[in-house]
Amino acid sequence: MSIKIGIIGAGGMAGYHIAGFRQAGAEVVAVADLNGEAAARTAAKNNVLRTYNSVARMLKNEKLDAVSIITPNKFHKPLALQALAAKKHVFCEKPPALSAAEISLMATTAAKARRTLMFNFNNRARPESYAMMEYIRKGAVGRINSAQALWIRRTGIPGFGGWFTTKSLSGGGPVIDLLHMIDLALYFMEYPDPEWVLAQTFNDFISDKAFKGPWGIPDNAKGVTNVESAAHGFVRFKTGQVLFLRNSWAELNKREEVSVTFQGTKAGGMVRRLFGRDGLDDTSLDTCELYVQEHGRSVNREIVVPADPTMGRIRSAMNFVLAIEGREAPLNTPDQSVKLMKIIDAIYASAKSRKPIKV
Ligand SMILES: NC(=O)c1ccc[n+]([C@@H]2O[C@H](COP(=O)([O-])OP(=O)(O)OC[C@H]3O[C@@H](n4cnc5c(N)ncnc54)[C@H](O)[C@@H]3O)[C@@H](O)[C@H]2O)c1
Repeated sequence: MSIKIGIIGAGGMAGYHIAGFRQAGAEVVAVADLNGEAAARTAAKNNVLRTYNSVARMLKNEKLDAVSIITPNKFHKPLALQALAAKKHVFCEKPPALSAAEISLMATTAAKARRTLMFNFNNRARPESYAMMEYIRKGAVGRINSAQALWIRRTGIPGFGGWFTTKSLSGGGPVIDLLHMIDLALYFMEYPDPEWVLAQTFNDFISDKAFKGPWGIPDNAKGVTNVESAAHGFVRFKTGQVLFLRNSWAELNKREEVSVTFQGTKAGGMVRRLFGRDGLDDTSLDTCELYVQEHGRSVNREIVVPADPTMGRIRSAMNFVLAIEGREAPLNTPDQSVKLMKIIDAIYASAKSRKPIKV
């Protein structure tokens, strides 16, 4: 019997989720969105038969095993709790929630309900990340002492006055929106416990239309724009490992770069996507490399993997289904998301207080 899934929120990622669920053998039975027209559009585009403008009605009328949540960040927690109360497995878009307190509640609720709770950290499902993780797990890298996580854009503000730029709806700007590389670095480092965070956020250019991203998100003239445009920070872990991070939507960088670089005791390495034009995946170039010393020489190894323009988004959704069915290990766990969100909370707290934060 195939797993039956309902989509909540007809956001831009719905097509990837639906494709991934289907490739793993699941059935996507309905799309629910508060905006019934958006639900109908996404359902028609992806050949899903039924639509709802009420999540509660979809949960009541359909025999679902799982849901996937693709809504603005503020609604991740309440919708996940609603689905878990109805005994559904939950796949939720990133960020997990607005804060560590929210994701902690989601994690304990999922454990009590004995249901899978996973998040779309699709960058872990990129071919480069699968390959690098295999080298790390097989001991080729040694202990990762230090890593640098970057998701930096030059002109990549996702619209003005919409939910992305409204702190109460999004939780913040690029720190929380582009948290993927912080997550990927932690994943490579075996998710150590954070101890100290020192960070600074900036809000230059956040209202400057010249820094808008290329995705055609409608601006809302009456809306709020009260989030940061960039952040720089440093995390020390209880293990003695350290992480440097840079996230930006708008900053005077040469071009958009999405990368994790690390220095291990046996090898250094890098997983990177460089963009030709900010925000346009099809202009990008992916790299996966290891750096070693061999026989007195510096050797750079290029790990060749198949290209994946979807940045792991389809593979990540497949993993959710395969994990529920016990056919693959889950690519991420709620405990990891709790640690990640503690770091995100501490970045904002450090920027606000101008002090290092003990996590
Ligand atoms: N993993 C990735 O690469 C990636 C990329 C883009 C966005 N995202 C994430 O996807 C999520 C959605 O972002 P988006 O850009 O698609 O947003 P969007 O605004 O384009 O779409 C969100 C949809 O959710 C619906 N919605 C809002 N509240 C709802 C509720 N309570 N119940 C049901 N439907 C509701 C809206 O009507 C809208 O149709 C965000 O969490 C974002 O961070 C992830």
